[in-house]
Amino acid sequence: MPLNTNKSPSVTEALDTRITCRDFLDTPVPDDVLMRILNMAMRSPSGGNLQPWKLHVMTGDTLAEFKKRAAERTLGGKLEEPTYRAYPSPLWEPQRSWRYKLGEDMYSLIGIPKDNKMGRLVWLAQNAKFFEAPVGIIVTGHKNLEMPQYMDIGILLQSIMLLAREEGLHTASQGWWRNWTSVCHEMLDIPEEEEVMVGMSIGYGNPDAPVNDLYADRAGLDDVAKFYD
Ligand SMILES: Cc1cc2nc3c(=O)[nH]c(=O)nc-3n(C[C@H](O)[C@H](O)[C@H](O)COP(=O)(O)O)c2cc1C
Repeated sequence: MPLNTNKSPSVTEALDTRITCRDFLDTPVPDDVLMRILNMAMRSPSGGNLQPWKLHVMTGDTLAEFKKRAAERTLGGKLEEPTYRAYPSPLWEPQRSWRYKLGEDMYSLIGIPKDNKMGRLVWLAQNAKFFEAPVGIIVTGHKNLEMPQYMDIGILLQSIMLLAREEGLHTASQGWWRNWTSVCHEMLDIPEEEEVMVGMSIGYGNPDAPVNDLYADRAGLDDVAKFYD
């Protein structure tokens, strides 16, 4: 499905047109637009109103240097210890198949076959460049947070993603950054007691990039909901 680059005036439309954008134009996001999104996202709810997030928002030279260091490290092949693993291991069905299908759908759109391991690694490293977005955010939280606060951080991400659509922008949530925290701690003011939770790219999506045609499948409501009356 072609990328929808219009502004989405309703929540329904914002949700419907939001995708994980994996190729951004280099068009800068005006400061007032970015601040409007982030200020309004502060209205996100959190259990006990803990607001357990800290946002490190990068643009300009800082972002360029950050991306450079992260991409070098990624392609250098030296892995870092993640703050949290991305998925349970082993993953069970049907989640295992859903995850597999997402990968296959994405790589077939961008034309990198399964046996091209290096091609897939190089593509994966686009994560380290925030997919070329002009705004990169690292979200940190206290090391002692409990599971409900992770949910709160997810709600904050969703707020940013929907507000971005209202401005004609796209986003990519990036658990990726939990695997590459050295550059975060080097370049950002992250206190000792905090750790990297997630990242997010924000910018104008490239409507000509095949990867942005990916409109990922979803389970049907019947697969995940039971109704009781
Ligand atoms: C918290 C979170 C972290 C994610 N991390 C990554 C990531 O590091 N890299 C990536 O390419 N996609 C990442 N995604 C995108 C998911 O793969 C995507 O949301 C899912 O496949 C559904 O597709 P859609 O967002 O395009 O609807 C993340 C999504 C969420 C919600």
